[in-house]
Amino acid sequence: MSQTIFNIAVLPGDGVGKEVTEQSVLLLKTLARQENFVLKITEGLVGGIAFENTGSPLPEETLNLAKESDAILLGAVGGPQWETLTYERRPERALLSLRKELGLFANLRPAFTFNELANASSLKKEIISNTDLMVVRELTGGIYFGEPRGDDIQNGKRVSKNTLIYSEDEIQRIAHVAFQIAQKRNKKLCSVDKANVLETTELWRQIVTEVHQDYADVVLTHMYIDNAAMQLVHNPKQFDVMVTTNMFGDILSDIAAMLTGSIGMLPSASLNETHKGLYEPVHGSAPDIAGKDVANPLASILSVAMMFQYSFNDHKTARKIIAAVQKVLSQKFRTTDIFEKGTKQIGCKEMGALVIENLE
Ligand code: IPM
Ligand code: MG
Repeated sequence: MSQTIFNIAVLPGDGVGKEVTEQSVLLLKTLARQENFVLKITEGLVGGIAFENTGSPLPEETLNLAKESDAILLGAVGGPQWETLTYERRPERALLSLRKELGLFANLRPAFTFNELANASSLKKEIISNTDLMVVRELTGGIYFGEPRGDDIQNGKRVSKNTLIYSEDEIQRIAHVAFQIAQKRNKKLCSVDKANVLETTELWRQIVTEVHQDYADVVLTHMYIDNAAMQLVHNPKQFDVMVTTNMFGDILSDIAAMLTGSIGMLPSASLNETHKGLYEPVHGSAPDIAGKDVANPLASILSVAMMFQYSFNDHKTARKIIAAVQKVLSQKFRTTDIFEKGTKQIGCKEMGALVIENLE
């Protein structure tokens, strides 16, 4: 029997990206042995470290590596030393270019609470316990990429502009992804817009409503972004899947992340039409704690679970990873970010090793 081969591009990036990704790579290697697949891992430079070494945050070589792989595992990019660089050279540019170049239009950001961690949230336990929602964010269009953009002079004054633009096909394809995810979950989709003010999102609402005709089993609702932000902290359990524009999704997914107590727990996936995906923790590079072995590797590890689910269509392995994480948490092991009295504080490496030990 021929073995399945997975070609994975690993781009650790900056700050804690390196150490959390290291744990995920160890996990992948263990899974390859246990599940009998061939793993081809190639590392590449991305972000600030890539800029230091090559003069570009996304070197050609890394982009090609990403294009040729079956899936990409990314750590994090950015750091204070690169904040004064010009726009094109900033580490964050690498993320935006990867998204655009690979056509990663669908960004899936789940927010779920492990009930073991319900005390870690700044919200009341009864509000957030059992929260389990998915923000589906459009990732390659909208105001992030719209033209015209940039600085100008008008009547002798400095002005600057960005453009919020969506075409119907861009809205249709993200709507299809969101409805299909809702079908596999609790069959509720809330589309978030600002249709009372912005024409672009009036079109958004219209198209999402049209696409709904193909998914009669899903209940569709619409909500304005300001209300959605409020409802997310008021009663997050009302949501199953939320779909929204690039910028609204950027904001809503951070709010949703905070519900769960620690951003150190949350994975994400960015998919293109062929379900090639880029998988990364929602948290950033956290330069203040980098290199100290205190970062939480679970968001990266759970991103690997999403990789198996969405790119490799291997739900069994995905569930196996999640179960191992759950076991380690129920044994009361915690990294600093989710530590509370009565639990056992451990570092990044030990957390990674414990998850691997608990794979069944
Ligand atoms: C995110 C980040 C990025 C974004 C930045 C770093 C460009 O905030 O992935 O949410 O705004 O998309
Ligand atoms: Mg963001």
